[in-house]
Amino acid sequence: MMDATTRTHRHTEDWREHAYDLTRGIAAYTASPLIDGLARVVAGYPKADIANAFNHKQVACKMWARDKLFERCGGRFKRIWVLGGWYGVLPAMLFDDARFDIDMIESIDIDPHVAAIAQTLNRSAAGRFRALTSDMYALDYAAAKPDLVVNSSCEHIADVRDWLDMLPEGTLVLLQSNDYFSEPTHINCVASLKAFEAMAALRQIRFSGELPTKNYTRFMLIGTV
Ligand SMILES: C[S@@+](CC[C@H](N)C(=O)[O-])C[C@H]1O[C@@H](n2cnc3c(N)ncnc32)[C@H](O)[C@@H]1O
Repeated sequence: MMDATTRTHRHTEDWREHAYDLTRGIAAYTASPLIDGLARVVAGYPKADIANAFNHKQVACKMWARDKLFERCGGRFKRIWVLGGWYGVLPAMLFDDARFDIDMIESIDIDPHVAAIAQTLNRSAAGRFRALTSDMYALDYAAAKPDLVVNSSCEHIADVRDWLDMLPEGTLVLLQSNDYFSEPTHINCVASLKAFEAMAALRQIRFSGELPTKNYTRFMLIGTV
């Protein structure tokens, strides 16, 4: 007879196989490279928290970012840096959107475990995507000259303004934060859009807005430092 631990393990394994079959089926039906990448992540990285990174709220926040970016800045970019990029969901969604024409996106995260997963998710963009492991406070922004710097993880870093001070004047940025104070990994939430604007103190703002979700409100700024 199976004990409780073995049963739980079997159940988890069954669910992973179901999720893999399902995402592979949806990928075949939709011919979507993004869903194909998701299926490969489910199969190859069972411990990855991909269901969290690709849940409907995360996807809504990134679709919002994508739409406002296109509306305010257009779709042509040579080099985008996505900082705190986690599993590379935003790059995958940008490559999936025909409005955008992007030469290279680099997803940079301090966690050494996420790069291989981001690379798998974005495998169809090989040659136009790279996942790198680094602290965003240790990068040479002036040398790399990305034409857009995205940080949708502002709630995860200690000092947003200190980090922004490292970017050359005039750099285009897209920033997101939120008021989800109760999440333990959020070390720097903001209470309102006004507070986020004050914290970032951008020289020029092209977009400033908020997106309410069930448990929290997400804030976004697009502008230049
Ligand atoms: C939970 S995730 C992203 C959440 C966010 N809402 C999103 O999807 O855009 C936050 C990521 O920021 C990364 N991170 C935190 N501090 C960092 C730093 N100093 N440099 C680079 N990445 C960092 C973490 O490793 C983590 O993968």
